[in-house]
Amino acid sequence: MGNEIVLPPPDIKKSTFLQTIQKRHTTRDYATKQLPITEVSNILYAAYGINRPKTGKRTAPSAHDWQYVDIYVSDANGLYIFNPQKPSLEIILEKDVRKKTGIQEYPASAPLNFVYVVNYARMPQDLPEKEKSLFGITTVGAIVQNVYLYAASAELVSGVRADIRREPLRKTMKLNDDQEIILAQSVGYPSVVGEVKKWVHNIF
Ligand SMILES: Cc1cc2nc3c(=O)[nH]c(=O)nc-3n(C[C@H](O)[C@H](O)[C@H](O)COP(=O)(O)O)c2cc1C
Repeated sequence: MGNEIVLPPPDIKKSTFLQTIQKRHTTRDYATKQLPITEVSNILYAAYGINRPKTGKRTAPSAHDWQYVDIYVSDANGLYIFNPQKPSLEIILEKDVRKKTGIQEYPASAPLNFVYVVNYARMPQDLPEKEKSLFGITTVGAIVQNVYLYAASAELVSGVRADIRREPLRKTMKLNDDQEIILAQSVGYPSVVGEVKKWVHNIF
């Protein structure tokens, strides 16, 4: 007997979930076309909506259900915070700040950029700093993957990033001292130009 158990290959054809996860990938090229509001609502529901209205629990886990992550949404018209209860987008700024949500070029033209913010005021004050940080980052990671998977299921594309100038963005977003920007993530339609570039790259 060897020192491993060889697994059969995943039966992707059998599961639509496996077919979706097979398509998950990071994209850095987006069409400029805006997403309809219905699609924005779908993405936010998948990201961190309330999936059990009786308890108010959400599509991503949080330690002790403290729900310490907020999703800020930046599009061509403004900056908003996602309120999952209604659901709604509460207006923070009526200004296009997409380019501030990343250092690379693509966030400026991606139709939708999420900025994931942890609010440490929703955790007990005496919790060790390491745990506060671990809890916040873990929940953001789960939300990020929810968005990637919804995008893969809906013929959309997405890309997460840590590459953000956090101090200027904090000021733009009017965050307080309890809030920390963790990651940002774009969502949109695939760019035809990007696809042509990849195609040219593949044949030459
Ligand atoms: C914590 C984290 C930070 C990342 N930061 C960036 C980033 O700043 N810019 C970027 O283009 N991609 C970023 N990515 C995306 C990764 O480069 C990408 O996930 C990786 O290359 C694997 O590709 P895949 O997502 O298509 O599997 C980040 C991913 C993670 C999880």
